[in-house]
Amino acid sequence: MRNLWIVDFGSQYTQLITRKSRELGYSSEIITYKETKKRFDAGKKPHALVLSGGPQSVFEDENDYSFIFNHEDLPILGVCYGMQLMGRYFEGKVERGTIGEYGHAKIHTTNDHSISNVPNEINVWMSHSDHITELPKDFQLVMESHNGLVAAIKHNSRPILGLQFHPEVEHSEHGKDILNYFLKDVAKLEMDWGANEMLEEAKELVRGVEKSKVLCAFSGGVDSLVAATLSHEVLGENVYCFFVDHGLLRPQDYGHIETLKKETSLNIEVLNVKELFFNKLKGLSDPEDKRKAIGNTFIEVFEQKVHEYEESKGIKFEYLLQGTLYPDVIESISPHEEDGKSVTIKSHHNVGGLPERMNLKLLEPLRYLFKDEVRILGEKLGLKHEWVYRHPFPGPGIGIRVLGEITEERVLKVQKSDQILFEELKDKNLYDSTWQALTVLLPVKTVGVKGDARAYEEVICLRMVNSTDGMTAVWTDMPYKFLTKVSNRITNEVSGVTRVVYDITSKPPGTIEWE
Ligand code: XMP
Repeated sequence: MRNLWIVDFGSQYTQLITRKSRELGYSSEIITYKETKKRFDAGKKPHALVLSGGPQSVFEDENDYSFIFNHEDLPILGVCYGMQLMGRYFEGKVERGTIGEYGHAKIHTTNDHSISNVPNEINVWMSHSDHITELPKDFQLVMESHNGLVAAIKHNSRPILGLQFHPEVEHSEHGKDILNYFLKDVAKLEMDWGANEMLEEAKELVRGVEKSKVLCAFSGGVDSLVAATLSHEVLGENVYCFFVDHGLLRPQDYGHIETLKKETSLNIEVLNVKELFFNKLKGLSDPEDKRKAIGNTFIEVFEQKVHEYEESKGIKFEYLLQGTLYPDVIESISPHEEDGKSVTIKSHHNVGGLPERMNLKLLEPLRYLFKDEVRILGEKLGLKHEWVYRHPFPGPGIGIRVLGEITEERVLKVQKSDQILFEELKDKNLYDSTWQALTVLLPVKTVGVKGDARAYEEVICLRMVNSTDGMTAVWTDMPYKFLTKVSNRITNEVSGVTRVVYDITSKPPGTIEWE
């Protein structure tokens, strides 16, 4: 159990509070109102608690919060909705706003207050219409907005702080300092989170399955690499990594897997099943049909492998190792949700369905970690920087980047153009300036001239995006010179391609992949 509980009221930023507090060195977890109540009823209490923001109005919230607020010495931070709950409970006046404050707002300190490292006037991110119009009893005003609205309040004697703005979002200047002020100066928490703690916790999860045979669907991406490496440290040769070569990989992936085979002690077996995948994909051009065919073939390949190991080697797998991360595990739910479940499990996995079919239990040692934490953990485990900072690559591979029917010839066009993009990113030192980079073959032909002849050939689209978790993304503003070089090389070196375009769509509305 973590020292800091973040009670989630459904704000889109709640995960950021957890991430930021962990970056500052404090263990934290997201829980629902119902789970919080259950734990308090069972006599459990955190060292400090954050009440998150939320999309609804406190006027629609009939929950009783006295079980939280009546603990005299419990440090509490209320953010936005959380502050308004505080305002109402402690007999202040909260009013429904007719107009709100959304986006940037300037705020300043009042009454000679100061927060360590934070200037007296800052720009912060607001997203509210209800607001506190009369201070709650025994609270003082610490900051107000230039519109004259309450921006931060503090209890006179108890460790309670309320913020109308969102310190957890990047747009709030000194937001991290303000969170740190609460955690360190108001709540007086001890730092208890870092690479050592992450490693210990993840290993503890693996120790729970000691002596079992573990099957790992190994992609070589950071999640499966870190999950396999730390499981291997605990379970040794009982971890079997299978890498599926479905023929929908890029040249860099073949190089990467060879390197990992040579330079790590992981037990990696490459399964050459290209023909099977291409046969299953023959004639399919609908994106969903293709994804389904790829997913089912993955399962078929692993089923065969499990049987083969059981029959010919007498090895019976009990666990499937997956690199599931915290954002997959936790999903914001509203405090009014009736089912009272604290988390909803989402499955976005390339071998979804396999555990049920093969009667395998799941081993998910990274289930409490964010992606950036997995990278820190990877380096702690001695994995190379370039391995843990590789761009994400989807399980279905090029299969979802060749729009229309998948043929060897069309796959080759993406493989070649992707390799050119990759080489140029590395050469110009731009690989780390984008979160993901890919090329897509469009199902359209356009007219061009090559030499002096008319060409009627296909189009490659370049897609480069910046993101933190793939849930939202913005297109990366790459130098024109770089784009020109990549475009020239593709049209010159990839036969059957006359035109290159650059995708400048954010997510939403566009997804990162095209299918
Ligand atoms: P989208 O296209 O949904 O992609 O914006 C978000 C991120 O997820 C990756 N992605 C996948 N990864 N299996 C995976 O392992 C999949 O089926 C899959 N689909 C999308 C995508 O590359 C991006 O990083």
